[in-house]
Amino acid sequence: DWTPAAFVEETVDMLKEKIGDGKVILGLSGGVDSTVAAVLLHKAIGKNLYCIFVNNGLLRKNEFEDVLDQYKHMGLNVHGVDASARFLEALKGESDPEAKRKAIGGMFIDVFDDEAHRVEDVDWLAQGTIYPDVIESVSVNGPSVTIKSHHNVGGLPDFMKLKVVEPLKMLFKDEVRRVGAELGIDKKLLGRHPFPGPGLAIRILGDITAEKVRILQEVDHIFIEGLRKWDLYDKVWQAGAILLPVQSVGVMGDERTYEQVVALRAVESTDGMTADWVNLPYEFLQETSNNIINRVKGVNRVVYDISSKPPATIEWE
Ligand code: XMP
Repeated sequence: DWTPAAFVEETVDMLKEKIGDGKVILGLSGGVDSTVAAVLLHKAIGKNLYCIFVNNGLLRKNEFEDVLDQYKHMGLNVHGVDASARFLEALKGESDPEAKRKAIGGMFIDVFDDEAHRVEDVDWLAQGTIYPDVIESVSVNGPSVTIKSHHNVGGLPDFMKLKVVEPLKMLFKDEVRRVGAELGIDKKLLGRHPFPGPGLAIRILGDITAEKVRILQEVDHIFIEGLRKWDLYDKVWQAGAILLPVQSVGVMGDERTYEQVVALRAVESTDGMTADWVNLPYEFLQETSNNIINRVKGVNRVVYDISSKPPATIEWE
């Protein structure tokens, strides 16, 4: 019978044997998979694991600082890189969803490659790949899809020539969470909703500016904190806000306003392949909408997405 305890013991032994005193680099995303992979490797090889956590400027509000802090408390050897400005520059004027994904995936490779070169004599690249990533064509796990298209002209970046180690390759998501709990990883981190690699860039329809990112971070923060406060966060598989490229007329005092519309999305799902919109309580939606409109300058209308997948997708881009 499969148990998390046995998995941890066997995997740590396997990793020790395989890696010996070699050095390993790993990109942390703040998500469950890369975190569990990192903690397993840390248990096996300690300081020879070098983690890199890139801020692409498209994370949730305060996420980079919060997660980096958590990683440091877990004893991981992690280097945080704030590359927000480089990503924003790469996205400038880009409004096509696939072009945005490509720009972000390509920039991630460049930043990661730069950082990987700071570690001398690396032997291995570790990844938090899980079984569904192996069998599905669309990875929910970051920029793996765009790596090839970006770099097939100039040759592979150096870190991609490393030997690859993927300790979670045979596990499903719920097993990864159980292994994470076995390793003592914080419940809040293990229960985090999935979040797309391109982050808020695919939740800002159209082109990206620093101001739009700021607005969406505020809106998203109010929505997610509200879900936590109402004890709804763990009942939802994934939730987030979308900034629409639409302005609508509103009224404030005796003046008319003409400001942004945001959509809220919350879905139930088991694997992201199909999904149903969640029947959130009206009282919650009411409070959240009021909080958003009162607190976030530039937003005067909130709508709730009641589409299921298929035929809609979870993200809007
Ligand atoms: P869709 O929108 O296709 O999303 O129903 C299914 C799941 O995949 C996530 N998603 C992505 N994850 N890079 C990622 O790492 C992407 O480009 C990407 N697009 C969608 C989405 O958040 C949902 O969990």
